[in-house]
Order: sequence, then structure tokens, then C-alpha cells
Amino acid sequence: MTGATNRVNRRDNGPPALSLSRVCHDYVEGAGVRSVLKGVDLEVDRGEIVALLGRSGCGKTTLLNLISGIETLQSGSIAVDGRALDKLDEAERTRFRRRHIGFIYQFFQLFPTLTAAENIALVLELNGFSPARSRARVQELLTSLQLADRAGSFPDKLSGGEQQRIAIARAIAHRPALILADEPTGNLDAETGVLILDLLRDLVKQEGATLMVVTHSLQVARTADRLLTLELGQLAERQGAFAW
Ligand SMILES: Nc1ncnc2c1ncn2[C@@H]1O[C@H](COP(=O)(O)OP(=O)(O)OP(=O)(O)O)[C@@H](O)[C@H]1O
Ligand SMILES: [Mg+2]
Repeated sequence: MTGATNRVNRRDNGPPALSLSRVCHDYVEGAGVRSVLKGVDLEVDRGEIVALLGRSGCGKTTLLNLISGIETLQSGSIAVDGRALDKLDEAERTRFRRRHIGFIYQFFQLFPTLTAAENIALVLELNGFSPARSRARVQELLTSLQLADRAGSFPDKLSGGEQQRIAIARAIAHRPALILADEPTGNLDAETGVLILDLLRDLVKQEGATLMVVTHSLQVARTADRLLTLELGQLAERQGAFAW
């Protein structure tokens, strides 16, 4: 343990891809206040894959939404790639998020009117890739995710596993420092889920990205380098054992 309470230690001395300090979050509901996060401290190394487990309603999505800036930080601090998000104004935060963070959701959330290739290309265009660079990157990702033959298909013509592979390609395409995934296999059968996670893991390692993945699945959690649990508003590190 280091200084701050409930500090989860990093494994080496490199600069953290993600750093949270004393993050608290309350939801106001009617006359009551629900304290969901009660002082979360965390540092995640570059290149690390961290799985976040915890009971339904414990605050996992809230935590991801704070890191991504979807939810406004109430107290504490969050830094991604060394940049403190609370020091940025709204426009800077949006730009920063677009450039440095990639997202993968349970229900894929592909744009239905864009083809598989266009879904990936969109994020590259938003990040200033030239059309030629964008085409090459899309092709590279589709090939590594074994989807080259589905480039021109619309999402509703793809299976769940195929849609999630496109969503993974889209999240990682612009080489963000940090990928956040909220139950990425929650809508897939177990076998497909494990395949998708293996692909995601390989891609994240190959690209040198950092991944934080929220999951209820121990099979998914096993693919991570580190396991964290969120309980009673605080993070704890789980060492190896899978007793639940
Ligand atoms: N906008 C909101 N207003 C009030 N309460 C909220 C709001 N969003 C979430 N909550 C509550 O905060 C708690 C944490 O929600 P959150 O979605 O972060 O949980 P979770 O760990 O992601 O759960 P699950 O595993 O079911 O996805 C829950 O009790 C939820 O009801
Ligand atoms: Mg959730």
C-alpha cells in the first residue's frame, strides 16, 4: 500500500495510462442521495489489461462514464495518459476523448446506416486521417479480425460476434491510449464471447493499448492481466483466486 487509501499499486514505474485519485460519485434521486463511488484510487499501466468485476448496480458503468467524461466528475481527479480531465473545458474534453479513448459497448452501437468499413473509417476521419491512410487502416483491421469479406455489409446483416468485431476495430482504429469496454461479451454466447475477447486481447497487446473491461464473466476476466473488484464504492485488487 502507498499513501492514498485503498491505493491499487501499479506493477512498474512507467507513466500510467490511467490514474484515478479519490473519485467519489453520488446520484441524487428524489429527496435521497445514493453514494455509488466512495473514494476510488487506481493506476493502470500502459499496455495493461484490467478486468473490473462487481455486483450489478455497484457502479462499474458509472466509473467508466467518469473516465470517458460522459458523466461529470464530482470530486477527486482522473488523468488519462497524464492529462487531468477536470482541467480541460468541455470542448477540449470532447477532443481529448475522441483522440485518446476508444469505447466498446455491450450492444455494439454501430451506426446502422454505415457499412462495416464506414463505421471504422468514421472515427479515423474525425481524427484527421487522410482518405488513403484511413482506407489502409480499415483494411488492416478488417483483415486481422477476419472480416475482410464483410467490409461492405451493413450492421443488420452481420451476426452479433461480427458486429462486436467491427465495434472493436472502430474502438482501436485511431490507436487511442485507452480502450474502455462495458460488458463487451454480455450479448454474445459464451463461446463467441471468449473468441471475441481473445481477439480483443491480441489486438490490444499488438497495438500497445491499455484496456479496462467491465464484465460479469469470469472467463472474460481470466484474459486480463489484473482483476479489480468494485465493492461498497471502493476498488480492491483480486489476487489470482476465483472463489466466486
Ligand atoms: N442517472 C442515474 N440516476 C440515479 N441513479 C443512478 C443513475 N445511474 C445509475 N444509477 C444507480 O447507481 C448505481 C450504479 O449504477 P451502474 O450503472 O454504475 O452499475 P453497474 O455496476 O454498471 O451495474 P450493472 O452490472 O447492472 O451494469 C445503481 O444503483 C444505479 O441504480
Ligand atoms: Mg453497467
